[in-house]
Amino acid sequence: MANEFPDAIVTGIDMSSVFPTTIIPGNCRFIQHNIIQGLPFPDNHFDLVYQRLLIAGLTPANWIAVVAELERVTKPGGWIELVEVDGFGGNNGPSTAKIWGWVQTAFAARGMDTLVGRQPGLANLLKQANVANVRHDILKLPTGEHGGKIGTLLMENEHSFWNAMTPVLLHAGGADKYELERAMDESRAELEKYKSYHIFYNAYGQKRERSQGMEKEEEEAGKGSWSRPSRPVAL
Ligand SMILES: C[S@@+](CC[C@H](N)C(=O)[O-])C[C@H]1O[C@@H](n2cnc3c(N)ncnc32)[C@H](O)[C@@H]1O
Repeated sequence: MANEFPDAIVTGIDMSSVFPTTIIPGNCRFIQHNIIQGLPFPDNHFDLVYQRLLIAGLTPANWIAVVAELERVTKPGGWIELVEVDGFGGNNGPSTAKIWGWVQTAFAARGMDTLVGRQPGLANLLKQANVANVRHDILKLPTGEHGGKIGTLLMENEHSFWNAMTPVLLHAGGADKYELERAMDESRAELEKYKSYHIFYNAYGQKRERSQGMEKEEEEAGKGSWSRPSRPVAL
């Protein structure tokens, strides 16, 4: 993104040290930080705030607090975008469904909900944070060789994820070692037979030009429009 938009200043944030170390564009910086502790930026700071693939890291309560923080650091009129993957996907065969069920159980044991994209849904999370002009899309990406190069990469990514998760699936997901191995073997053929797909959710919206408090005052006064305020607002 920093290369594509050389006039922008891009800030990346992650709690782990997963940042590139060799090629870093001059307009890009990385901050290692746990977003559950709030974002280390002032109010109304960024034109665009983009968050992706945090379903394995946030509890429902964290989601509400984190999206409120995303809204806080966005400039009025700026955009907030969320992208998440569905914890099950679609058209799963029985073995693939079993594995995703173990994944869901394992994350639920840690308080995470891998189906946040379905309920409450990313668009509702944005609306709950008072974000305006919210839109959302659902992308279904074929997984496996029937999905061509990207589908094959998704399948490999899925298997890498399951392999990395194996200890957790055995300890907290309720999976049995041999059953898990068999299910992973069977899953590859199932993807082709059932034409399985990953589901990605994408929702975006705009920070309002005025604070929620002002909106409430206006609604109470019988004026509900969202035009630019006539006086500066301290957010
Ligand atoms: C699936 S990866 C996605 C990485 C990146 N956002 C992307 O889309 O390519 C999830 C990342 O979220 C990070 N993460 C999880 N919980 C976090 C938290 N509370 N604060 C900051 N980063 C977190 C993990 O360290 C991990 O790198």
